[in-house]
Amino acid sequence: MSYVITIDGPAGAGKSTVAKDVARALGINYLDTGAIYRAIALILYESEVRPNDDYIMREALSKVRIELNGKSVLVNGFDVTGEIRTPMVDELASMYSAVPSVRKALLSLQKEQELHGSIVAEGRDVGSVVFPGAKAKFFLTASPEARAKRRYSERVSNGKPADYDEILRSIIERDKNDSSREISPLTMPDGAIYVDTSDMTEQEAVHYILDKVKEVIPNEAK
Ligand code: DC
Repeated sequence: MSYVITIDGPAGAGKSTVAKDVARALGINYLDTGAIYRAIALILYESEVRPNDDYIMREALSKVRIELNGKSVLVNGFDVTGEIRTPMVDELASMYSAVPSVRKALLSLQKEQELHGSIVAEGRDVGSVVFPGAKAKFFLTASPEARAKRRYSERVSNGKPADYDEILRSIIERDKNDSSREISPLTMPDGAIYVDTSDMTEQEAVHYILDKVKEVIPNEAK
């Protein structure tokens, strides 16, 4: 029987690496819902559709085709996997994901992924809105400073320009946007297990989650 595990939490809490590793350890699929929001934000912005243009927004959304192809995200057939990982798209995704018609358009695409087998879904509302019936739910978080430090080191090790104060400012700003929006705000889903990773390595977080998953669904997670 297929099952869903959800991992929600703010930007930079280590969700992506942890969710990917948990999925790999369990031998199931990984669903990065943030990548879908990033892709749609990029295409809407490039098409000059502004977040408050509701009519134009709906028109544009009805024409966009997003496909998840293993590790890649395609928009209308174009691979945008690399393009969506920039500080500009961080901010665009936070802005466009607050628009109700955007969230509505992306809901069924996310739900459909369950049809392809068991998944670890990662995002901001996967445990509360997208997969409320998930077998195990986690809320992964860390202090804004710990998250900014990680993002900073990540950028430096990837040879990208990095400014710690700017990263911290952007994290605090995105937390505010993601938690205060009217629709699907970032909150801890009912029944989720709270995991503060400020003083944990990513591998410690992965093991902690795998142990909990084994308690909740012992037959699937061996
Ligand atoms: O996880 P991420 O940083 O790639 O997410 C990018 C943005 O998308 C983030 O600002 C919030 C939004 N998002 C969302 O609103 N709901 C989700 N399930 C996933 C992401």
